Amino acid sequence: MLPNFVLIGFMGCGKSSVGRRLSSLTGHRFVDSDDLIVKTEGRSIAAIFDASGEEGFRDVEQRVLADLVGVAGIVLSTGGGAILREANREALKKIGIVVWLDSAPQVLFERAMRSGKRPLLQTGNPRDTFDRLLTSRLSIYETIADFRFDSSHVEQDEVAKKVLDQAMRIQSQRG
Ligand code: S3P
Repeated sequence: MLPNFVLIGFMGCGKSSVGRRLSSLTGHRFVDSDDLIVKTEGRSIAAIFDASGEEGFRDVEQRVLADLVGVAGIVLSTGGGAILREANREALKKIGIVVWLDSAPQVLFERAMRSGKRPLLQTGNPRDTFDRLLTSRLSIYETIADFRFDSSHVEQDEVAKKVLDQAMRIQSQRG
């Protein structure tokens, strides 16, 4: 049986679009933890950050991820900071094969700024904030990922196929 797939990585790495493609390739249900948070709370991510701050947002994120442990047949796309709490890192590893999607910092930055809706980048110097957050998170992504996939030079459509191939190789090595 196909394992679950858990996509982690910084804002703008393409978790949702690759996740949707992986979901069509595998037949697994696509689950986006940010979407679940919005649904659970009945308000936008930005509104949660405004009213409850980052910690309030992280509390909801932790509950949503914990609820997914034990659910089969999913491709899970996580928010970029979902790896910050130890409880989440444990939950994600239990949920499935953890894939770190990465790209060159400049590519991530441009994509992350495009929506204009990411609360953590609404600062006086978004590039500075971005660099600081990225630097502080890289080793965490690396520690919990089963593998890293650099999509900087890969066409979007190819990314999901290549991620699936690599995940299946890992799965078969594990037996
Ligand atoms: C966050 C990333 C966002 C969202 C929230 C916090 C982060 O998700 O969860 O704004 O801490 O990096 P994306 O990675 O999908 O942008």
